[in-house]
Amino acid sequence: MKMRQLGSLTVSEIGMGCMGFSHGYGKIPSEDYSIEAIRKALDYGCNFLDTSEAYGPYMMQTGHNEKIVGKAIKGRRKDVVLATKMFIGTGEVKRGGSTYDALKKHLEASMKRLQTDYVDLYYLHRINTGVPIEYVAEGMGRLIEEGLIRGWGLSMVTTDFIDRAHRVTPVSAVQNIYSMMERDYEKKVIPYCLKNNIGFVSFSPIASGYLSGKVTTETKFSGDDVRKWVPQLRKDNIIANQPFLDLVSDMAKRKKATNAQISLAWMLHKYPHIVPIPGSKNQERILENLEAWKVELSNEEFRELENALSGMKVYGQRKEVNMGAEYID
Ligand SMILES: NC(=O)c1ccc[n+]([C@@H]2O[C@H](COP(=O)([O-])OP(=O)(O)OC[C@H]3O[C@@H](n4cnc5c(N)ncnc54)[C@H](OP(=O)(O)O)[C@@H]3O)[C@@H](O)[C@H]2O)c1
Repeated sequence: MKMRQLGSLTVSEIGMGCMGFSHGYGKIPSEDYSIEAIRKALDYGCNFLDTSEAYGPYMMQTGHNEKIVGKAIKGRRKDVVLATKMFIGTGEVKRGGSTYDALKKHLEASMKRLQTDYVDLYYLHRINTGVPIEYVAEGMGRLIEEGLIRGWGLSMVTTDFIDRAHRVTPVSAVQNIYSMMERDYEKKVIPYCLKNNIGFVSFSPIASGYLSGKVTTETKFSGDDVRKWVPQLRKDNIIANQPFLDLVSDMAKRKKATNAQISLAWMLHKYPHIVPIPGSKNQERILENLEAWKVELSNEEFRELENALSGMKVYGQRKEVNMGAEYID
């Protein structure tokens, strides 16, 4: 697979979101199946894995996903660019500890679960306005100096926060929601990142599965399935957003590709610093998504998609639900 830069980190141009092995998209597969799926993705040429301390089955302790990823990469750690995320609660710092101490405590717990002594990309999962971003940036800088992390990033942030953080310790990557159906960050965040040599990692790049065309009004979501509250997947919006599916399926037929592959190929064509991390807990679909790197859109095909998208209304955007206080830019 071709490679891209997230700051100084070199990653395959399509990464792998591992969340679904633990939470968020219905019944989770067995641990053995999940480990095998991750290894198959690495064998294919994907070197970029995304997890978080927070990904775990509903009401169970955190770290479930990191443990699976840790087992999957055992023996091949050096071949992997490993990204995980953490969140600092205000109480952790108020109790007298420094932000750096809190960061390090979270990192050490993650590293133990991941069976590693360094993390390549360590994200602040969400901004906590009770913990100044400059303190977080300074703490991340110390962790880089100590060799415990190679780079750091922010998730669901606006340019204001990225800029404040980047001035203290250069940011490697920003991970925000982005797909054909969530394009708000094209206005400021994506251009800011491009200008400042910061990678942009797009999560939910297939619009939580909608753009694959496999979600219908009959699809049932249960347990901790996040699709219960993804507004684009409300029954009325599934119907109203059909023009997006028509657009993608039409291009998919012409390119002998799948819908999911077109939705990924489109963003790879659009920006040189974007790395999507599609999430699937199904081994065949994981490989299907990684294969999207081979789907090259011509400039005319890309323009056709862009022209159509610019005239289409999205019904139900994530900003309608709480995605973190700093969502709007
Ligand atoms: N930073 C953050 O706050 C944040 C938030 C959410 C997610 N993430 C990260 O981003 C990753 C990806 O995001 P996401 O999982 O929300 O969204 P996504 O990749 O847009 O969609 C995942 C959903 O799409 C389905 N799917 C994936 N590929 C498919 C294909 N080729 N054909 C049919 N269906 C397909 C999956 O179903 P199956 O599993 O059944 O295949 C799953 O239901 C996560 O794994 C996680 O690592 C980060």
